[in-house]
Amino acid sequence: MESSLPSSQILDSDGNAERKNEAKNYNEVMSTLPKVKGLRGDDYYLYQGFWYAPFFLERLMSVQEHFHPQSTDIFVASFPKTGTTWLKALTFAIFTRSRLSGSTTSSLLSKMPHDCVPFLNYNLAQNPSNRDLTIPLLSTHVPYSCLPKSIISSCCKIIYICRDAKDAFVSLWYFHATLQRSKNVEPLPLEEAFELFCNGIANFGPYWNHVLGYWRASLEFPEKILFLTYEEMKKDTAAHVKKLAEFMGCSFTLEEEEEGEVQKIIGMCSFEKLSNLEVNKNGKCLLDISIPIPNSIFFRKGEIGDWANHLTPEMGARLDDIMERKLKGSGLKLPR
Ligand code: A3P
Repeated sequence: MESSLPSSQILDSDGNAERKNEAKNYNEVMSTLPKVKGLRGDDYYLYQGFWYAPFFLERLMSVQEHFHPQSTDIFVASFPKTGTTWLKALTFAIFTRSRLSGSTTSSLLSKMPHDCVPFLNYNLAQNPSNRDLTIPLLSTHVPYSCLPKSIISSCCKIIYICRDAKDAFVSLWYFHATLQRSKNVEPLPLEEAFELFCNGIANFGPYWNHVLGYWRASLEFPEKILFLTYEEMKKDTAAHVKKLAEFMGCSFTLEEEEEGEVQKIIGMCSFEKLSNLEVNKNGKCLLDISIPIPNSIFFRKGEIGDWANHLTPEMGARLDDIMERKLKGSGLKLPR
């Protein structure tokens, strides 16, 4: 079996020295990149066509260099705030359903979905043992063109989710504003953050290029990449749960369908169920070494169209117009 561990962390007999050298090299690369002030107040760096906060960029460079997936791995890919948590819960519940009576599925009752499906460039870049090798699910916010070559050239499957840009932006702003306030830092005003977003400046952005990368790849490799939208998944969750199972190679049997397995999974992963679990109300996760993130901020409203309560119609029309222009000719029209 191929290793999924960054080699710096496997071969590190000299330990810290090697890791420090690697960080130094990444810092040298970063110092040559264009940068701007980002949503988090820190600098975002333009690397291979996308913007990254330093924490994420350093880990991206590390996984680009060292990561090797297992051939059976399935990646949940997304731009932040587009439905990652929900998709992780669903894929995890679908994959582990045969162990329903065992401990694995109930993991969703005691563990936040991000702790059930680890992030390639947070959890695994920092601590390779943050992975249960019997569950081939990993996740990433990395744009398709920046994924490690070892993933692109593998036969690993990727499930991508995206959503209306206005809702994604509002969700992103609230996420950062809540985090900043928890650190007693005044967040960037929504209008200023909106301006940045419209200029493509967001961690892992521009948003439209993130979406387009996975969209085009899904057209080229439909057997490897499943392209989903949050809105369509909300509209017909049952059909999507079956589609996900089929894509993941673990279709529901007739017997399972008759026994209501699909509905059980939908209920288990619903916003209402997950957001009311103790672990998601009061727990914290460590996605960023510097800040334990309250799990509750991954569950805000879970609605379509909430942007209208936060952006003016003019702001909405402006972002729609940008998305329409950027996606023109791609054959993709995101639901609103
Ligand atoms: P809102 O901020 O619009 O409510 P991500 O998981 O990529 O960080 O995205 C977060 C968004 O997904 C948030 O959207 C959050 O409320 C919503 N969400 C989280 N869990 C969900 C679930 N089980 N079902 C539907 N939406 C969910």
